[in-house]
Amino acid sequence: MKKIKFQTPTGMHDVLPADQRYFKKIYDTAESIANFYGFEKIDTPIVEMAELFSRGIGLTTDIVEKEMYVLKTKGGDILALRPEGTAPVVRAFIEHGMHSLPQPVKLWYFGPYFRHEKPQADRYRQFWQFGFEIFGEKSPAVEAQIIQVFYDILTELKFKDLVIEVNSIGDNQCRPYYKKLLVNYLRSRESSLCTDCRRRIKMNPLRILDCKEEKCQRIKAQAPQIIDHLCEECHNHFKEVLEFLDEMGLPYRLNPYLVRGLDYYTRTVFEIFSSEEIEVSKDDSVKNEETNEEEKITRNALVGGGRYDVLVKLLGGKDIPGCGGGAGIERIVKMMKAKDIRLPQPSKPVIFLAQIGASAKRKSLKFFEEFRKAKIGTAESFSKDSLKTQLRIADKIGVQYTLIIGQKETLEGTVIIRDMKIGKQETVKAEKMIEEVKKRLKND
Ligand code: HAM
Repeated sequence: MKKIKFQTPTGMHDVLPADQRYFKKIYDTAESIANFYGFEKIDTPIVEMAELFSRGIGLTTDIVEKEMYVLKTKGGDILALRPEGTAPVVRAFIEHGMHSLPQPVKLWYFGPYFRHEKPQADRYRQFWQFGFEIFGEKSPAVEAQIIQVFYDILTELKFKDLVIEVNSIGDNQCRPYYKKLLVNYLRSRESSLCTDCRRRIKMNPLRILDCKEEKCQRIKAQAPQIIDHLCEECHNHFKEVLEFLDEMGLPYRLNPYLVRGLDYYTRTVFEIFSSEEIEVSKDDSVKNEETNEEEKITRNALVGGGRYDVLVKLLGGKDIPGCGGGAGIERIVKMMKAKDIRLPQPSKPVIFLAQIGASAKRKSLKFFEEFRKAKIGTAESFSKDSLKTQLRIADKIGVQYTLIIGQKETLEGTVIIRDMKIGKQETVKAEKMIEEVKKRLKND
């Protein structure tokens, strides 16, 4: 048989023990802030009907066009590995009749997502996200709360230089007119656009504003801006969002070209970056039109989101507005490491159980369980027989006391407590062992 070297599929990765601590810290922080703001946790399946996404995210988006993992089941269903979390949560909201609950309904989630993207820095084919969604609230205060929730989580995680970019992409009233203006402008410059964008003029012109190609960026810089063409309702709504952000002291800047890669958004869209990321990542550079200088900017946001007032209806539910956002966990972990954000060390064991001989080994297994019940951090090395080796291990771990059980102690029902600092040993009754250890630890 041919020898195969198995490895993770391209663009996917293991979350190794060292990273689990970061994941847990992020989970715990998100959970505690979710609880404070009244969000309830929801889990949806990893796969959904593929049409949920093509309808919800939009047929002409990169995610649906190029990046979905689609599979056909034996029963003939066409399913997709979920590329994002909003459409599944909306599906669950509709399916479980959550419109009849007191509104707003606030949900949050944490899990793996899948996009068959071109492998590159910070873009994985399986990545982890946590997200927050609020249903049933039209007020611009909701956008501010969603942004605040992500800002709070990242601040709790010790991110200091966060930048929030915001824009409004209007609604079904004003966006079609703006699209026409934009298409007219782009048509006159079509030959200078990249191949993808030439195709986008017809299919999804707004996405051109988000193109990373330098030649498209130059054209984009002169393009009409949607913010100047919002209808009165969208204009007032956006003004109020900004007033809320001002009031809350959140550091935002307007980005008239922020359009996001999913079609379900209406009005407000936002992304959150760490400004330090600019120094950390060197894989993207953009020419500043004013200074004509190359600026190292990475567009890899930590968080992205916005309002989606038509999505619930589009997916078969009632006319209920929604707003939310999602954060990329790998990107947050990478930044935490780059910033040298320290995590509290897991508590170290204070006791080591050393045993010599078969009967002592059996006893120490039982003792180990007693220490667990007494909540005293204990280490062991049941596979080692030599006392010298075991004491060396105990020393390396840095425990305060080692309990030694040999044949004699097993017969007499005693244990030896060795103070690792001074090397002093005392024999105590086995049934008093926990009490004696506690007494010593207290006196230390
Ligand atoms: P998104 O901008 O596509 O939005 O993803 C949100 C975040 O997930 C990004 O800012 C990024 O940190 C992370 N992310 C996305 N793709 C990848 C990837 N390939 N590898 C690593 N990280 C990635 C959404 O998914 C929307 N569902 C957010 C939302 C919720 N809007 C409203 N509610």
